[in-house]
Amino acid sequence: MEAETAPSEVAWWPATGSPPEPGAPIVVAVDGTDVAVAAVAGGLVAFDDTCTHRMCPLSEGVLDETSVTCPCHKSRFELATGRPLNGPATEPIRVRRVSFDGTQLLIER
Ligand code: FES
Repeated sequence: MEAETAPSEVAWWPATGSPPEPGAPIVVAVDGTDVAVAAVAGGLVAFDDTCTHRMCPLSEGVLDETSVTCPCHKSRFELATGRPLNGPATEPIRVRRVSFDGTQLLIER
C-alpha cells in the first residue's frame, strides 16, 4: 500500500502496525471504541466495529467493495456512508477516514 498524506484538519489516531491485507480486517481501539480497518477495492476503509442492531462485530462479517454485512442478522451497511442498506439495523455505523503514511495507520478520531 502506498503512503498517503493525511489531511491536517482531521484529528488522527496513530496506530502501530501494517495496513490490513485484503480479506483480513483488523480491529483497532480508537479512544476506547473498536474500529475495523479493512483493505477494500485497492484502498482502506475504517468503520466502528459494533453493529447498531445488537452489537455484533462487523469485522467478522462479509465485506465487499461497497458494503459490510453483519455476521449475526445480516444487516448490510454502506461503506461510503455507514447507512444500513437493509435491516434489521436501522441506525448507521460511523465510517471514519483512514490512511497509511508509510509507517503507521492513521484513523480519524
Ligand atoms: S447484530 Fe448486526 S444485524 Fe443484528
